[in-house]
Amino acid sequence: MAENSASREQWGSRIGLILAAAGNAIGIGNLLRFPGQAANNGGGAFMIPYFVSLLVFGIPMMWIAWTIGRYGGRYGHGTLPGQFDKMWRKPFAKYIGVIGLALPLIFCLYYTYIEAWCLGYSWFSLTGNYVDSPGRVVDLSVYLQEFLGDLPTHAYFPGLTAAFTFLLITLALNIFILYRGVAGGIELLAKIAMPLLVLFCIILSVRVFTLGQINGTVWDGLSFLYTPDFSRLGDPLVWMAAAGQIFFTLSIGFGSLECYASYLSDNDDIALTGLTTASANEFVEVIFGSMIAIPAAAVFFGADRVKEIAGSGTFNIGMISMPEILRSLPGVEFFGTIWFLLLFFAAFTSSVAVAQPVVAFFQDEAKLSRKTSAMLIGIFWLLGTIPVIWFKKYGVFDEMDFWAGTVGLVVCAAIEVILFAWIFGMGPSWEELHRGAEIKVPRVFYYVIKYVTPFALIGVLIGFFYSANLTPTPKINLAVTDRHTFTGEFVNQTGPQAAAEIDRLEAAVKAAVTETGRDLSAWAEIEFDGAGGRTVTTFQGDPALQRVFNQDQFARWLELKGFTYQQKRDGQAASAPISAKATLMFEVLNTGPFIWLARIIMIAFFIVFGVIVHAIWQARSAEAAQTGGTA
Ligand code: ALA
Repeated sequence: MAENSASREQWGSRIGLILAAAGNAIGIGNLLRFPGQAANNGGGAFMIPYFVSLLVFGIPMMWIAWTIGRYGGRYGHGTLPGQFDKMWRKPFAKYIGVIGLALPLIFCLYYTYIEAWCLGYSWFSLTGNYVDSPGRVVDLSVYLQEFLGDLPTHAYFPGLTAAFTFLLITLALNIFILYRGVAGGIELLAKIAMPLLVLFCIILSVRVFTLGQINGTVWDGLSFLYTPDFSRLGDPLVWMAAAGQIFFTLSIGFGSLECYASYLSDNDDIALTGLTTASANEFVEVIFGSMIAIPAAAVFFGADRVKEIAGSGTFNIGMISMPEILRSLPGVEFFGTIWFLLLFFAAFTSSVAVAQPVVAFFQDEAKLSRKTSAMLIGIFWLLGTIPVIWFKKYGVFDEMDFWAGTVGLVVCAAIEVILFAWIFGMGPSWEELHRGAEIKVPRVFYYVIKYVTPFALIGVLIGFFYSANLTPTPKINLAVTDRHTFTGEFVNQTGPQAAAEIDRLEAAVKAAVTETGRDLSAWAEIEFDGAGGRTVTTFQGDPALQRVFNQDQFARWLELKGFTYQQKRDGQAASAPISAKATLMFEVLNTGPFIWLARIIMIAFFIVFGVIVHAIWQARSAEAAQTGGTA
């Protein structure tokens, strides 16, 4: 009989486990991140590294995670500190396992915020809040940025109240599910949310495929995604993006699959379950992830603009172009709500999964009740998420996403594969994977896991560290203040030939911010002449800014950036520039202190969990010494 396991929770049913595991993996990564990454990395060019990563990292790591998790669960350990301790049998192993507590919690801090945006946008769709009305033109890009507090203007949102409100609701729902436990909370949620998710995907796919032809067809979108472009295969960034997507989408490297596996019994299958989880995720990602947003954008905006839209920001396809399309068609209240509820449910089943290791840790190791454990994570979560919301525009969100949601996952996976293949050993690990298995894993994976996955992971890690930007740089924002009365688009058409001069002008502005150690801002009045030209009539602001960036330099910067004003395109071909007057806000943000704050928060989580792990194991050894047993 396994020690401790009698007191641990268990999955209620096999189907419940499969749905929960699929819900763990299927998330925003499938429906927003995947189309964005694919479009940004050359469409078809992305798919080859993507499938290679699935075979070299995704499926092997899935089996490794389930094996580590079920093995640890046998001894009553649902999280990496205890699981590593049992498999590695070295005193430092439990401290290395702290990565499986700090990473998921950091991930939750910003992931739940995206989840909250989706909930918010479902509400905005239902109430028609982003639909144009007389005297109120909604520019969806500005709308999103203002909702998130990324811009200094307030045309649509007076501040962050709406974002905070939806975040609090989302957080409360997550804590409630965790509080209800594995079978009564997570499994029940998956049984409701997963069928709904598939239903919503089908409804939306049918809607998109019956759009007909506007500026393109759905086939333009699909052929953009699936026509291989071998010329980009030599670009390491495409390979890194593909590997990063596989980790993110399969929830690998979070310690959460391991936690789910720990609630299995000793002879429950994990080989087929792991493969089923990966297959369900890939089905939703490759089929539904590519049948909704990209084809819809291709129909509506034309195939040429899909790349441009995706390239202008991670969330633009899902949160700017999809609402743009949906509000232009009848039934935005229904289809818009469904689109964002789909994203919300996908995210919800993933966020509870990623948070569960922290709850399980308090239950398994600190012997706290489920209620207290859920409350504790709620406190960490709420406190940690406030700076993410408040200082998002300074890059706190992106910093956490890079270190935790990208690099961290690969580090954790690298540790796990080394543990599985080289420390616990391929022989015992392979046997463990096959205990109670309903399939036999092809022998080729034995060699892939032993020789290919670890070295390929190290290669990806080197690439990530090489691409990391360790020194924060100030960030420039420019926005039209009176956006809701501005009937056209304020567009930026930077030409590459201007890049050097733009860099020079921006470097002076950024240096002024670094020197003064604060944000610098100005406002300007500008007249567009209708022939693509513009005149800056006023430029006033912080004297420290104006010393290095005066009205003429600002005008030159706008000219080089190619800012012009044109008729709204809404699926129409781009029209000629038109004349208008606008008031612009220009601000340069001193991101440094906030990026460092994000780094300190992340390090603090590692330290706090490290100290807790240390204290728990110390107390256990002391108790064992007293009773004459082993810790
Ligand atoms: N695997 C989860 C997602 O794809 C985290 O969003």
